[in-house]
Amino acid sequence: ARAWRGVVEEYRDRLPVTANTPVVTLLEGGTPLVPATRVSELTGCEVFLKVEGLNPTGSFKDRGMTMAITKAAEDGAKAVICASTGNTSASAAAYAVRAGMTCAVLVPQGKIAMGKLAQALVHGAKLLQVDGNFDDCLELARKLSVDYPVALVNSVNPYRLQGQKTASFEIVDALGDAPDVHCLPVGNAGNITAYWMGYKEYAADGVSTRTPRMFGFQASGAAPIVNGEPVLQPRTIATAIRIGNPASWQSAEKARDESGGRIDAVTDRQILAAYRLLAAEEGVFVELASAASVAGLMQAVEAGRIERGSRVVCTVTGNGLKDPDWALAGASSATTVPVDAHAAATALGLA
Ligand code: F0G
Repeated sequence: ARAWRGVVEEYRDRLPVTANTPVVTLLEGGTPLVPATRVSELTGCEVFLKVEGLNPTGSFKDRGMTMAITKAAEDGAKAVICASTGNTSASAAAYAVRAGMTCAVLVPQGKIAMGKLAQALVHGAKLLQVDGNFDDCLELARKLSVDYPVALVNSVNPYRLQGQKTASFEIVDALGDAPDVHCLPVGNAGNITAYWMGYKEYAADGVSTRTPRMFGFQASGAAPIVNGEPVLQPRTIATAIRIGNPASWQSAEKARDESGGRIDAVTDRQILAAYRLLAAEEGVFVELASAASVAGLMQAVEAGRIERGSRVVCTVTGNGLKDPDWALAGASSATTVPVDAHAAATALGLA
């Protein structure tokens, strides 16, 4: 055994780098593939969780950001910019620090989780809250990157998807072959595109014998791909995927169609239920958007779209600590006791 070296070094021969590329890394990737005992029981499938919240900044974005910032550094960039619902900005800010670059981030005002805002700020990003939604922020960031000397590190940057495809490699490396089905949340649709790229690459090179059916899930109030048209005012409690006009829309449809999968919607209520289930019965604390993958799996099994007995991987994309408000909402408040064993035992129902 040797120490994990980050996704660029681990998969160097499958990524667009040379011996001279200055790799910017926080040793991202190598995340656990955790058997989901309870979800397996409930669905009759063999379910695994790819726990991406254990990346350095707490989301899958780090896989893409190590590549995007590495290539920006190789090109001599001094500054990067992104639009974000929170995780991309947290990741960009951290990797920019590693590279000695400045980082500008545009976020929808009042619609990003507190933990993500804190990350961008503590890493010294220049943060603007935009009076608009994510789609407006992305349009602004694109314009600024065209007119000013600042590199765009959103997933429209092809290096981002190259980095993110390594999650598929890790899954196949861990399971010995591709699963039957892969479920993940869909927002700007970069990640489903990247996973599909990774699975296809391994199959084409004979590392795996097959590819999985790709199942993507949007929140029902922010489900443009499901509806077949942009959503002008996307609404969902899962702020990470509150996106009405995904940049990788067409490539997500391609992933769906080539793989024989489906992109569907789940309600906020289903997302919240899956979020609580993962925390209370699997011991895995994810953020709301991440739970859309598991909510979607349960819905698809119920509807007969995924066969019982299938081997399924659900990507849980971000760490629950980023947005603790939803964990506290609905939880009973903690009881205060004096420094007294009997009082504590009574309060705990032990006495
Ligand atoms: N899950 C989480 C936790 C996310 O932060 C995102 C996207 C997604 C899922 C959806 O992934 O966009 O590739 O389809 N967050 C972006 C951001 C938009 O700005 O952090 P996608």
